[in-house]
Amino acid sequence: MTISKRRLVTATGLLITTLSTSLLAPSIAFSAEEGSAVAEGKSLAFSRKKGNCLACHMMGDGQSPGNIAPPLIAMKARYPDKAKLRAQIWDATAMNPDSPMPPFGKHQVISESELDKIVEYVWTL
Ligand code: HEC
Repeated sequence: MTISKRRLVTATGLLITTLSTSLLAPSIAFSAEEGSAVAEGKSLAFSRKKGNCLACHMMGDGQSPGNIAPPLIAMKARYPDKAKLRAQIWDATAMNPDSPMPPFGKHQVISESELDKIVEYVWTL
């Protein structure tokens, strides 16, 4: 009786360990990956040679932003569909033909993968 109970406890412990490793490990790996995409996206967005978004937008903790464009805040709430946010950054002139915002993707100022990272960052704002 005692032995079988202990076995049961061990088995349950093993099961929990196995489950938590297999269920939690990928999600931890995923969020770390996502975290680095956000960090890379931020430096691409702030870089004068890449996004240079701060020339026009107040965003995050970026220093000396310009104010000809709306501040990038509450982005997740305002763009629940990440694809729409991506489309806006890909080519702002699609929504507004008179937009002073450079059509970054269309003009290949930034690459597809750089754009993905910038979107990940902007979505956290
Ligand atoms: C030369 C100025 C300029 C630069 C540089 C610029 N933008 Fe914009 N952006 C604008 C303006 C102006 C708008 C307002 C809408 C319009 O005119 O298209 C805008 C709109 C947006 C919007 C939509 C905002 C909203 O309230 O819905 C997003 C998102 C955005 N910009 C992201 C970016 C990102 C990310 C970068 C850098 C990769 C960037 N912008 C660089 C001028 C700029």
